[in-house]
Amino acid sequence: MRVIVTGTDTGVGKTIFCAGLARSLGAAYWKPIQSGLLEETDTEVVQRLAELPAAKLIAEAYRLRTPASPHWAAEIENVLVEPDVLSSLPPEECLVIEGAGGALVPVTRHMLYADMFARWSIPAIVCARTSLGTINHTLMTLEALRIRRVPVLGVAFIGDEHLENARIIEALGNVPNLGRLPWLSPLTPDSLQSAFGRSFSVSSIRQHYDALTR
Ligand SMILES: Nc1ncnc2c1ncn2[C@@H]1O[C@H](COP(=O)(O)OP(=O)(O)OP(=O)(O)O)[C@@H](O)[C@H]1O
Ligand SMILES: [Mg+2]
Repeated sequence: MRVIVTGTDTGVGKTIFCAGLARSLGAAYWKPIQSGLLEETDTEVVQRLAELPAAKLIAEAYRLRTPASPHWAAEIENVLVEPDVLSSLPPEECLVIEGAGGALVPVTRHMLYADMFARWSIPAIVCARTSLGTINHTLMTLEALRIRRVPVLGVAFIGDEHLENARIIEALGNVPNLGRLPWLSPLTPDSLQSAFGRSFSVSSIRQHYDALTR
């Protein structure tokens, strides 16, 4: 299975979720565009937390130093991001792909991540906070994906339990609630693996995936 992991915002916990998901699925991980190289990159975080073999870490198509929206980081660094380069997915059959920030972040001045997702035509998981503000952000993200015909596999919540926020998003968003990853302290490969296993059912993720791709 090849799945996109997007989110309602930057910093919601997509990379941590991707690490748990890639490890649980035995999948490879790909961050097509990394902007910001001074701190640990997302691929390095996944390597550290998912303990994936090197062969399962796909090199980024673009690595930009500036910690900014990819379209802007690329312009500052005089890099031309070519949608056609991004369009061809790595050949790995089991692959977790992480966007940057939220679904409507620009890849270039003419293309948003959500437009790229639509080109790929593979299912997307939306990572969302559990806390105040998440209903609006998550429902808007779902609309933005669906209007572009991106198949939505489900929402993965991250943070402290908030039953009503999860319930209303599931109902009004007409979307599967895949589970909730709590905020972990310490955040280690072991704590992530066991929390991920308690929080999400890989077989139900596979079932939702199959339903969308049949
Ligand atoms: N479940 C969690 N438990 C503890 N810390 C977490 C958890 N999820 C995320 N964090 C921390 O929150 C910060 C942001 O998380 P993360 O890097 O996964 O966000 P992101 O959505 O991938 O952001 P970006 O848009 O930059 O890719 C990181 O410092 C990460 O370690
Ligand atoms: Mg990330």
